[in-house]
Amino acid sequence: MALVKVALSLTTLALISSTFCIAHPGFGFGFGWGSGFGGSVGGGGGLSFGLFPQFYQFSCPQVDEVIMSVLEPIIASNPRTAASLLRLHFHDCFAQGCDASVLLDDGAGVVSEKRSVPNMNSLRGFEVIDEIKVKLEEVCPGVVSCADVVALSARASVVLSGGPSWELPLGRRDSKTASISLSNSNIPPPNSTIQNLITLFQRQGLNEVDLVALSGGHTIGVARCTTFKQRLYNQNGNNLPDQTLEQTYSHELRSVCPRFGGDNNITPLDVASPARFDNTYFKLILWGKGLLTSDEVLLTGRVQKTMELVKTYAENEALFFEQFSQSMVKMGSIGALTGSRGEVRKNCRRVN
Ligand code: HEM
Repeated sequence: MALVKVALSLTTLALISSTFCIAHPGFGFGFGWGSGFGGSVGGGGGLSFGLFPQFYQFSCPQVDEVIMSVLEPIIASNPRTAASLLRLHFHDCFAQGCDASVLLDDGAGVVSEKRSVPNMNSLRGFEVIDEIKVKLEEVCPGVVSCADVVALSARASVVLSGGPSWELPLGRRDSKTASISLSNSNIPPPNSTIQNLITLFQRQGLNEVDLVALSGGHTIGVARCTTFKQRLYNQNGNNLPDQTLEQTYSHELRSVCPRFGGDNNITPLDVASPARFDNTYFKLILWGKGLLTSDEVLLTGRVQKTMELVKTYAENEALFFEQFSQSMVKMGSIGALTGSRGEVRKNCRRVN
């Protein structure tokens, strides 16, 4: 009974608060529980604590239109941009929460996350976010946060690559700080073991289903030679290639990625359909053609759950799309700043 009462009052609170927020779009929950709970609620409802899809309904109804109008031509002429923007959201959320900390340049009190090991010479799309932000400041100045621009751009990128769409809870605010150390410690390296991946995802409140579904983001985009070289020449310190890597594929990769040099040469993460958001990533893993160690260990890492999920998503694209959408909402609510916390930056590269 007590449980029912708590649930009822939480629901009432959420309803009152979201009505208030829609009427007064400058306000989030303001109760300081935006990140503490850290997850999405109810799965299908698309409501995360403190974030909700209609956040800009009155304050900036054009937000989606503006984002689409910038991204459509850019992604049509350079499909990789979609991949870069999707990854940007992931790297934002895993370091200090989805608060656009990743966009901050070095400045007063800020050591930029752009210089962390996973991001340096690797993370892209900053100029595209700037372009969107400039347009948004023209139509609704001071309203749309950079963190929401990143989340919305990630969704738009998936849609424009042929993937699913989802109802996206909004209302994230921007941090006034960045954390290069969290960027270094929380974002998994490409040679991660399955256990390492599970642990780093768990740290963010994400489970094994989220891990496998979100890894499906590697259905688009590319990786540099340096991120998979070890697999081609010396996976276990014995001067032998990774035995789980399919031989013909391994051979092809060696021409892109020589033993010495060529570290910045790039190759698709999904060699079959690099610009299309689909489930071939999982089929490739079954064939030993997952590019990164972190891709292949989802199948070969001897964790029953992730192994089964790779097979399931390889067989059933609709299920992958459904789970990917849910996991993106979950990832997108990690550590979100709401209410009066943080700020809405005018320029995504620096605090106001
Ligand atoms: C599971 C742990 C993950 C690891 C170890 C990992 C690692 C990597 C690495 C090493 C690259 C290549 C970077 C470079 O060569 O410069 C990459 C690219 C990429 N990652 Fe991940 N990633 C992971 C999860 C994710 C997630 C959760 C997403 C999104 C939902 C994602 C989306 C992407 C995309 C789209 C690219 C291509 C980017 C581009 O072409 O610019 N990754 N990832």
